[in-house]
Amino acid sequence: MDARDTESTSPAAPRVAVVGAGTMGAGIAQVAAGAGHEVSLVDVAPGAAARAVDRLRAALARLAAEGRVPEADATAIPDRIRPTASMADVPECTLVVEAVPEDLPLKRSVLTEAAERQPATTILATNTSSLDVSALAEAVPGPERVLGLHFFNPAPRMRLVEVVSGRDTSAAYVMHVSALVRSWGKTPVHCASTPGFIVNRVARPFYGEAQRVVQEGLADPATVDWILRERGGFPMGPFELTDLIGQDVNLAVGTSVWERTGRDERYAPTTFQRRLVAAGRLGRKSGAGVYRYAADGTIEREEPDLLLAARLVGGPVERDPLARTLALLVNEAVDLVHRAEASAADVDLAMQLGASHPRGPISWGRQIGLDVVAEQLRRLDAAFPGGRYRPSPALSDGSLA
Ligand SMILES: NC(=O)c1ccc[n+]([C@@H]2O[C@H](COP(=O)([O-])OP(=O)(O)OC[C@H]3O[C@@H](n4cnc5c(N)ncnc54)[C@H](O)[C@@H]3O)[C@@H](O)[C@H]2O)c1
Repeated sequence: MDARDTESTSPAAPRVAVVGAGTMGAGIAQVAAGAGHEVSLVDVAPGAAARAVDRLRAALARLAAEGRVPEADATAIPDRIRPTASMADVPECTLVVEAVPEDLPLKRSVLTEAAERQPATTILATNTSSLDVSALAEAVPGPERVLGLHFFNPAPRMRLVEVVSGRDTSAAYVMHVSALVRSWGKTPVHCASTPGFIVNRVARPFYGEAQRVVQEGLADPATVDWILRERGGFPMGPFELTDLIGQDVNLAVGTSVWERTGRDERYAPTTFQRRLVAAGRLGRKSGAGVYRYAADGTIEREEPDLLLAARLVGGPVERDPLARTLALLVNEAVDLVHRAEASAADVDLAMQLGASHPRGPISWGRQIGLDVVAEQLRRLDAAFPGGRYRPSPALSDGSLA
C-alpha cells in the first residue's frame, strides 16, 4: 500500500483549501481530493467554484465510462470538494493554496485574509510562477508559514511541484508540506525564491539560444528544432515548443526573469521573439507563430536542412546550436546550485519532470566535462561579449565535480 492509499482510506486526512478555481486551482483541488482530503474551493466569481466542480465531475464520469478511473473515484473525488465564494465559509485547514491571478497585491490580500481566518499553524502556500515569495509573505501574519507550491499545468498530470522558501519560511513547514505533496503522488523539489525558481530559470537558454542562432543567420528554425530533437534528445525543438506554449506566454516568463534579475543580459528577450508577438504570431493558438498551422492543427514548415545540421553539430562551438544550448543550460544549473538556491539533485529532477529534458543539466554537464563547458563558454563570451555567456565560477572551482 502506498501513501496515497493510506490517505484515501483515512477519515482524518486534514482539510485543504484552494483559493481561485481557474485552470490551476481546479487542478490542485482535484489532486488534493484525489488523495483523500476534504477540500474547500473558493472563488469570488459567482458560481465559478461550483462550475469547476461540475466540470471535474463530468470529466471523471467520462474517464470512468472508458474504464480509465474507478467508478467510485469518479463520484468520491468531486464529492470531497466543497465550492464556496468566500473564505469566511472555510473550516480549519492544514493547508491553504492560493491560485488567484498573478498580481502581487491581490495575492498578498488573499494570503492575509487566509492568515487571519485560519489557525496560526495553517500553511499558506502560493502557486505563483513569477512573484517573489518573500515579497508575498510581507505583512502576512506569521510569514514563517508562507511558502511557494509551484504546480505545473495540468496539475493532475504533472508530477513536479517546486516547494519554494521565502526569506522567513521555516524549514519545518517546508518539510511538512513536502511530505504532504509526496503523499499526493507528486515529486517535490526545494528551492529558494529566486526568479523563475528552478524550471523557469534554467530552461531560459533552451528557447533564447535557438532564437539567437536564427537571428545570426546560422540556421533556420526547422533545422534548429531538428538538431535539438534528433541530436539533443529533447522531445520537442525550441520553436515548436514555444509555438505550443504561446510565444506571448514564453516571452512574458522570460521578460519577468530578465526584469527580476536586474535585466541580466543572460535573459534579455530577443528581437526575433518580440517581433513575432508584436505581429500577433503567438503560435498554435493564433494559427501562426514561428511556423504556420492548418485548421486541423497540422504544422506547415520547410524540411530541415540535414547537410547543414551535420556541418554545424560537432563543429566550432560558436556555430553549434546544440553545444551552445547545452553549455548555457549547464551554466544556469550550476549557478543556481553555486548560489545555494537549490541542490544539484533537485535541479536535475526538476528539469526532467518539469521541462521534459532528457537528462538533468548537472549530470549532462558532468558527462560533457564541466571544464569543457567552461572553455566553450569562454569562447562564446569572446565571440559575443556582453555577459550572456559568462561562465559560472562553479564550473571551475571543483565544487560540482
Ligand atoms: N496556467 C498555468 O499554466 C500556470 C502554471 C503554474 C502556475 N500558474 C499560476 O497559478 C495562478 C493561477 O493561474 P490560472 O492560470 O489558474 O488563472 P485563472 O485565471 O485560470 O484562474 C484564477 C481564478 O482566480 C479567481 N479569483 C480572482 N480573484 C480572487 C479572489 N480574491 N479570491 C478567490 N478567487 C479569485 C478568478 O475568478 C479565477 O477563477 C497564477 O499565479 C499563475 O501564475 C499558472
